[in-house]
Amino acid sequence: METFLRGLPKAELHLHIEGTLEPEMMFDLAQRNDVTLPYANVAEIRAAYEFENLQSFLDVYYAGASVLVTASDFSALMSAYLDRAIADGVRHAEIFFDPQTHTERGIAIETVFTGFAAAQDRYADRISTSLILCFLRHLPPESAVSTLRAALVWRDRFIAVGLDSGEAGNPPELFVDAYREAKAAGLRLVAHAGEEGPADYVRSALDILHVERIDHGVRAADDPNLVARLVAEGIPLTMCPLSNQKLQVFPDLRDHNLKQLLDQGVRVTINSDDPSYFGGYILDNYLAIADALNLDRDDLILLARNSIEATFLADDAKAVLLAEIDDYVQ
Ligand code: ADE
Ligand code: ZN
Repeated sequence: METFLRGLPKAELHLHIEGTLEPEMMFDLAQRNDVTLPYANVAEIRAAYEFENLQSFLDVYYAGASVLVTASDFSALMSAYLDRAIADGVRHAEIFFDPQTHTERGIAIETVFTGFAAAQDRYADRISTSLILCFLRHLPPESAVSTLRAALVWRDRFIAVGLDSGEAGNPPELFVDAYREAKAAGLRLVAHAGEEGPADYVRSALDILHVERIDHGVRAADDPNLVARLVAEGIPLTMCPLSNQKLQVFPDLRDHNLKQLLDQGVRVTINSDDPSYFGGYILDNYLAIADALNLDRDDLILLARNSIEATFLADDAKAVLLAEIDDYVQ
């Protein structure tokens, strides 16, 4: 099973690059950049990874990201992830980053973009990648708009915008202006919705922000009419099983609704969210959910096909990767 899943061509569509910061790199960069962490060593960092909910994770995640200072830090972070993704059979990755996490502490957005670009370009013959700029929903909507405008100088270095951070009480519609400007700039649109927040947030992400994919979306299952709409419109859900387990969305993976939604015809995909914090990269997520829900070979092939179809690649590039899946499974 592990060998089969590792070789299965797949895309990763829900991955926060800041969430790939491994404790060793966090500790090294803190020392090099003279950043004080609330942890004395790598073991203490790992020991902090027990989360009660999304916010208790975000507190640790933003503290960790504070060690990223120079372009070469951002490049090293991206390179380490791309090595790992290639080893897990990822052929294409659409990668979230949170510019406000860095600009709010005085790092220039140029530093962030140039660091990522150096790594992306170095790996381009082994894995195709795109960036998705995420707005932090716990910050004011005006900050999202100004972040987007500053980033448009780098328009050719990202393909989409997203929305992340603490969901409850920060509904999608607050960010309608930033999304309208992003769409006008030709960017694709996604948003986290229905992770901890209600099914209604999924609906407003679709109706008001006009997103093309929903990140997580597990709570959509509470509303049968919404599920029917996701099926009818072919809206992908980028699910992250180990994240949902660690953040107590589904404390027992056997209760996860991924298979139920897949069987209902929703375009479900498997992804890793913040793999350094949640105990596994994309292959670990495929293995854990396959085991918990007894997914069979056809389910797993369908999930991999969904991941390719849900990308923002051009149709001919999608066709090449889908044909690779067909060849591989024969
Ligand atoms: N930022 C990083 N991971 C996140 C998640 N799972 N939900 C919301 N914001 C995030
Ligand atoms: Zn996420």
